[in-house]
Formats: sequence, C-alpha cells, structure tokens
Amino acid sequence: MGFSTRLCTSLAGIELRNPIVAAAGTCGYVEELADAFDLAALGAVTTKSITREPREGNLPWRVVPTQAGMLNAIGLANKGIERFLAEEAPLVRSCGAVVIASVAGHTIDDFVTVAGALDESQEFRAIELNVSCPNTATGRHFGNDATALRELLTAVRAAVTRARLFVKLPPDMADPVAICATAIERGANALVLCNTMPAMAIDVQTRRMRLSRGQGGLSGPAIHPIVVRIVHDVYNQVARAAGVPIIGLGGVLAWQDAAELILAGATAVGMGTALFVDPRSPQRVVRGLDRWVGDQGVSNVSQLVGQIAQ
Ligand SMILES: Cc1cc2nc3c(=O)[nH]c(=O)nc-3n(C[C@H](O)[C@H](O)[C@H](O)COP(=O)(O)O)c2cc1C
Repeated sequence: MGFSTRLCTSLAGIELRNPIVAAAGTCGYVEELADAFDLAALGAVTTKSITREPREGNLPWRVVPTQAGMLNAIGLANKGIERFLAEEAPLVRSCGAVVIASVAGHTIDDFVTVAGALDESQEFRAIELNVSCPNTATGRHFGNDATALRELLTAVRAAVTRARLFVKLPPDMADPVAICATAIERGANALVLCNTMPAMAIDVQTRRMRLSRGQGGLSGPAIHPIVVRIVHDVYNQVARAAGVPIIGLGGVLAWQDAAELILAGATAVGMGTALFVDPRSPQRVVRGLDRWVGDQGVSNVSQLVGQIAQ
C-alpha cells in the first residue's frame, strides 16, 4: 500500500504516517495486528493497558455484543510490567509502527512505577495513562476528579521524562473541559477521548447479567456522537488554545466517522471495536480519509482539524 503525504501528521511532536491509531486493549500488546496487515499502514498502535502485577482479568463472559456496539468487562487482563518489558518491549523497534504504551493502576504509586519503568526502557515514544477503565474497582476516579487527577499527573510527570504523556479519559466526565484543562495544566502532551461508557445488559430469559462482572464498558457506534461532542467542546474551549492535540475515539468504523472526529477537533483517531468487526478496517479508513482530504481541496489532513463550516 502506498502512502500519501496528505495524511502525515504530527501528534505531540511524534510524526505519524496517518492519523489512525489502533486503540488500547483491542489489538494485543505490540504486534498481534500484524497477522492481519502490515502495521506500517497505521499511524500508531496502542498496547493493552499494562499494570504493575499480572492480572487474569474478569471471568467470562467478558465481551457481549449489543445493538449498536459491544459491552466489555475484560478487567485489564495482562502479563504485568516485568514480563511486558522482557517479552514485548523488544518488538517495538521492528514492528514498523509508532507504539503507545498504555498504563493502568489503582494507586498513584502503581501509575508512577509502571510509567516510570516504561519511560526508562526508552522503547516507547508515548505513554498513555488509562484513568478511565470502567471494569475494575479502582483507578477510574482519577479521570473524573480534577483534584485526584492533578495529584496523579504531578507524580507521574516527574517520573516520565523522555516519553510524551497522554491521558485517556472517560466519556461520562461531569465536566470534560475542566478535567482536560487540569490534565493540560499538569503536563499532558495529548488527550485521548474517550474510553468506554459504563453500561450493562441483562439476559431476560435467565434474568442474569450478561457480563460476569455485571457492569462493563460500552464501545462502538452507540458512543460515537457522544465522543464527537466531547472532542468538539474540549478542542474549542481548552485544547486548541493550549496547543495540545486530541486523539478522538469511539465508534469509528468507516472513514466518515474518522473525518467527523477530525472536524470536531481530533488530530488523530483511534479504532477499537472496528478491529473486532474487521481487523483490516483501519486500512479502508486510511484510504477513505486520503480521498476525503483531496476532495476537500487541502494538502494535509491537519488543515481540517476543527474546521467545521460556520
Ligand atoms: C475488548 C476491549 C478491551 C479494551 N481494553 C482497553 C484497555 O486495556 N485500555 C484502555 O485504555 N482502553 C481499553 N478499551 C477501550 C478502547 O481502547 C476504546 O477507548 C473504546 O473501545 C472506544 O473506542 P471504539 O468505540 O472504537 O471501540 C477496550 C475496549 C474494548 C472493546
């Protein structure tokens, strides 16, 4: 597949071939997606969220389909930072894509330990703090409480000196602009909007919750317009003026969905649920975006960021 320079973009100083990013938790650790296509076709790949200790995650069912998306409660299943650094980090240089390392934790100390170790490894251009996972008991409050987020970022920023620091937030923030302003003030280099929406489903025959954990996170087309609104508001009210880019994600299945997030204010666009529908869908989205940028009469996609016509 040839690459057009129309889609080259810069995300917090990291050059991407195109704005499409594989979302955390939906494409394995580093190279699992390479079974479907050459990772060089993507702008970046995000690892599943890594924690201090290994985690088995929740019991099945951990993923169930819904009418306009899917519900998951994976529970941050991962091999833990020690094995991740030994087994996965060495694959980063040869995988052909920019790799963003995602971090989750329960306490500030967890985040500082894992993010600090990733930064020290020097394999990752960016570290993404997942303060928005609806599938664990703790760790999520950082994404919806400006005081807690300020404290977390102050500590993590001191431990991450090489990599860019991204902050991934939930779609049910009471005040997205205020939370994002706090993230920016405390040194976030990019905002990742958004994680899944807390939700649940019930099997009416068995009268049981469909997910073993009861509640989980909703992703896919159902959350797309919510994310478009959040990206728009955050971009216009705080991120543009601060010069901090947004990765918009939520329900991007087709190039039109990605284009919509770019017009709302996203510099890059994540795809998660789409990878379960068709792991090759990012390539289609890249091709569609490339045509769209040409049709809009501009020479680079970055000229369309936030450009909703008045
Ligand atoms: C099965 C599954 C696992 C996920 N695991 C993670 C994760 O480990 N870390 C994280 O930050 N987000 C995780 N997410 C959230 C996605 O990265 C993304 O933010 C969300 O699904 C919205 O995008 P989408 O509608 O394109 O899927 C997960 C989503 C799904 C569906």
